[in-house]
Amino acid sequence: MALVTTTEMFKKAYEGGYAIGAFNVNNMEIVQGIAEAAAELQAPLILQVSAGARKYARHNYLVKLVEAALLECDLPIALHLDHGDTFELCKSCIDGGFTSVMIDGSKHSFEDNIKLTKQVVEYAHEHGVVVEGELGKLAGIEDDVNVSAEDASYTRPEEVEEFVSRTGVDSLAIAIGTSHGAYKFKPGQKPQLKFDILEEVEKRLPNFPIVLHGASSVIPEYVQTINANGGALKDAIGIPEDMLRKAASMAVCKINIDSDLRLAMTAGIREYMTAHPDAFDPRQYLTPARDNIKALVKHKIVNVLGCDHKA
Ligand code: G3H
Ligand code: 13P
Ligand code: ZN
Repeated sequence: MALVTTTEMFKKAYEGGYAIGAFNVNNMEIVQGIAEAAAELQAPLILQVSAGARKYARHNYLVKLVEAALLECDLPIALHLDHGDTFELCKSCIDGGFTSVMIDGSKHSFEDNIKLTKQVVEYAHEHGVVVEGELGKLAGIEDDVNVSAEDASYTRPEEVEEFVSRTGVDSLAIAIGTSHGAYKFKPGQKPQLKFDILEEVEKRLPNFPIVLHGASSVIPEYVQTINANGGALKDAIGIPEDMLRKAASMAVCKINIDSDLRLAMTAGIREYMTAHPDAFDPRQYLTPARDNIKALVKHKIVNVLGCDHKA
């Protein structure tokens, strides 16, 4: 099967009350762990690449790794640019085989966000590629950009119809209280998402796929394993899985997960190195890391996304 866009996936997800997992990929073991999990559960998949991943692993390696996953498993897979911030970056991914791009103009004014997003949509649609836009600003860390909680802002539902109609985007990421990274809430703070905003957006944009970024749950088991094996993570708190499941049953069709993959991978490596301090063959410590990724993704597909057997 060739790479697909997200159009069909999102249509079915919206109607079926589930979401597709968009997992960030940076190297072979991550791609393999995710793809094996999705194949065993016959789940549609979005593999996404950030600018940082592209800088680290390079465009061609990542595209070929994702193409290798397609050869190994008969699944609908979309290859998506995560947080594209310029027209040039989006164009380079569209020209280079991606089937979906995000243009994240959320740091710009409403008018400038529309202008940039529209420019990307026009080019993408001419090339059969779909586009995710963003309205509202998430807190947290992506690449080297750190948005403080004070600078973050929820999506304003009254802006979404105009944004979607003037830009022509195919899906919209909104800010309802999720944030990037492992430290989403302060210790003692009760995790909360603004479901009222999601409901209002859903009313104003019927049948339109909504995206949630910053949706890792920061699974305590991995944090504990890391800290029990020489790590020093502080109180890391993520989005409760039942809230994500609720969002997936509403208009949210794409849920972005990266930090949980990082924690699962690091836990596997640290645990192995503690048990085998003399190990120096990367294949040895990357095997449990890959196994952890696979187990985590299977867990997400069944318990959070609800997209098992929807391929
Ligand atoms: O939203 C950001 C993703 O977690 C990607 O992170 O930019 O460090 O690759 P990165
Ligand atoms: P997390 O940091 O919560 O995994 O979010 C990832 C993300 O939004 C990628 O775009
Ligand atoms: Zn994100």
